[in-house]
Amino acid sequence: MPALGHEIVRLEEVSSTNTLAMQRPEYLERHGVVVLARHQTGGRGRMGRHWASLPGRQLQFSVVLHPAFPAHDFPAVALVAGLAVAQALESELGLHPQLKWPNDVLLDGRKVCGILVEGTTGAGGKPRLVVGIGINCLGSSDDFPAELRDSLTTCEHGAGRPVDCEALLRAVLGRLDEGCRRLGAGERPALLAEWRAYGLLGEGQRVRLPTQQGHREGVPVALSPEGYLLVLLDDGTRVTQVSGELEWML
Ligand code: BTN
Repeated sequence: MPALGHEIVRLEEVSSTNTLAMQRPEYLERHGVVVLARHQTGGRGRMGRHWASLPGRQLQFSVVLHPAFPAHDFPAVALVAGLAVAQALESELGLHPQLKWPNDVLLDGRKVCGILVEGTTGAGGKPRLVVGIGINCLGSSDDFPAELRDSLTTCEHGAGRPVDCEALLRAVLGRLDEGCRRLGAGERPALLAEWRAYGLLGEGQRVRLPTQQGHREGVPVALSPEGYLLVLLDDGTRVTQVSGELEWML
């Protein structure tokens, strides 16, 4: 398997790098191709949310994966990607990131990176995964729209010095490549153990879950072996959260 990032397609402006990577067979059919854009006009986040693009200040890219692991490992890819970003921020910039399940990367409680993993089928009906990563690299939270400023931060702000975005990109791709190879070698338990070292579990965090009876609140207590979030609700019930449809009350 070629290394992730063996080819990086650099584009000035696209709607969404994830959408483009999934739409174009010349990208989707090549494992490890990275589609990177300076600006996205329709950047997408999880659960239909919009991703705010700041041209020239973020890393916004999508990595095409032809998974060499079984489908039951696919949900763990989002966590492996978050882990890769956290490890790269630590090794490249000396930062102390935290991971908010499933895959937001935080610095001092503010989001510095969002990840959107999408699955599709390619040639011959084979599964393809597109790992979209957006990292706020340069500038400060003041550069974002007013309503986002309190919840976002940047690597430059966290590090207190300018950041070499290209070096950070290479470090993230290297870590992600390593994580995906380990997933293929059956190392999901070890990868999730590493995720837990950065994960916001326990520590007085609270979450709110949508249920048919309305919203219920509880405490995130653990990761399941698959990478799902186990929540202890206030009424003592334990629930397993499979997707990201929960609200963190940070
Ligand atoms: C989230 O925080 O909800 C996920 C945000 C993911 C943003 C990245 S930027 C590159 C890629 N292209 C997209 O349209 N989204 C992802």
